Amino acid sequence: MSTLVAATVGAAVLAASPASGAASTLAAAAQQSGRYFGTAVAANKLGDSTYVGILNREFDMVTAENEMKMDATEPNQNQFSYGNADRIVNQARGQGKRIRGHALAWHSQQPGWMQNMSGTALRNAMLNHVTQVATYYRGKIYAWDVVNEAFADGNSGGRRDSNLQRTGNDWIEAAFRAARAADPGAKLCYNDYNTDNWSHAKTQGVYRMVQDFKSRGVPIDCVGFQAHFNSGNPVPSNYHTTLQNFAALGVDVQITELDIEGSGNTQAQQYQGVTQACLSVPRCTGITVWGIRDTDSWRASGTPLLFDGSGNKKAAYNSVLNVLNSGTGTTPPTTTTTTSSNPGGGGCTATYSEGEKWNDRFNGNVTVTGTDNWVVTVTVSSPQRIIATWNTSATWSSANVMTARPNGSGNTFGFTIQHGGNWNWPSISCQAA
Ligand code: XIL
Repeated sequence: MSTLVAATVGAAVLAASPASGAASTLAAAAQQSGRYFGTAVAANKLGDSTYVGILNREFDMVTAENEMKMDATEPNQNQFSYGNADRIVNQARGQGKRIRGHALAWHSQQPGWMQNMSGTALRNAMLNHVTQVATYYRGKIYAWDVVNEAFADGNSGGRRDSNLQRTGNDWIEAAFRAARAADPGAKLCYNDYNTDNWSHAKTQGVYRMVQDFKSRGVPIDCVGFQAHFNSGNPVPSNYHTTLQNFAALGVDVQITELDIEGSGNTQAQQYQGVTQACLSVPRCTGITVWGIRDTDSWRASGTPLLFDGSGNKKAAYNSVLNVLNSGTGTTPPTTTTTTSSNPGGGGCTATYSEGEKWNDRFNGNVTVTGTDNWVVTVTVSSPQRIIATWNTSATWSSANVMTARPNGSGNTFGFTIQHGGNWNWPSISCQAA
């Protein structure tokens, strides 16, 4: 199978240090295009000064490698244990880093008591776990892997058999709804592996589930691609297609557990390809590598990470940094524009811009320009409500539909939407008054 690398960019991979003016850490370089660069962290390594030094310097997003999993956080039913997870969360937050939560529901790394459960009792125990853990960390998590690895490998494109799956096919959406209720401010992700190649049945199966969830209003915000690669499972040449097609469903995509076995320039080129694939998709919001040094990896013998065992930067590190610094990163959109024209001439343009966001509400602004007397219709979707406006006196045709125009000297007005867990932008149109 071919890999994602263009021969013409191979030379850049070997550059030892970033060009002057370029960012000198992974996080700073990723931030230039509005993205994050994260790593998995193990609580028992937080006393290792080399490890913590690299962590603090290079990364702005943290995933607990094992400490937020079901066996760690609920070792006995209804007895929750957050000590090691909190060590990671507190270290990260103390350094201004954000946190990806991993993982609320999974067939693997279940506590013993849960492994032996089935049916309604298991379904309820799973939902209670999701609710308790997401509530405990409410407001501290950028994105939760709500469900991990629920699809089968191979050609079926269907679900993986597990005790959770046997509680009914709706277990995944039930978990997402419970997570949304517990922490409405966290992005909710489905996370899996072997979903990188667009033509694989497993990729298609996950795609159909996300499409179905979006069409039925099941709360899902993002899809995580684990991206554990090796010679038997190389970076696919259609990776950006996969990321783009998922993003087109209206979700963010993230590379959540990246590691690529290998060494030297070959490994560096594969890392470059994955980074380029993310940068080419506006809604690919960040990349997380699954550990810091090769010796920290769950697959240490494959030397799959960006730092060697002594903490030195590898060729793969430089290739990732150079791509992040290349200025080719598309930026996640923060505005949308709509235009309307009169048959007899004249027209208007209204632009919606994202404002500040809180756990329960967000702001939006609309700027309108036109040759005539124009008004803007702002329509929100359930359960959203517009709870405040400024620079306008609006009229309402229903609770969801507001008609407004700027009433100040400028051409902008704004509003606050209480979102009730629905973060979609309002739809905007402008028309002659
Ligand atoms: C791995 C950890 O890295 C190991 O320390 C642990 O023994 C097993 O789990 N997919 C996932 C991760 O979602 O949680 C896994 O992490 C790697 C595969």
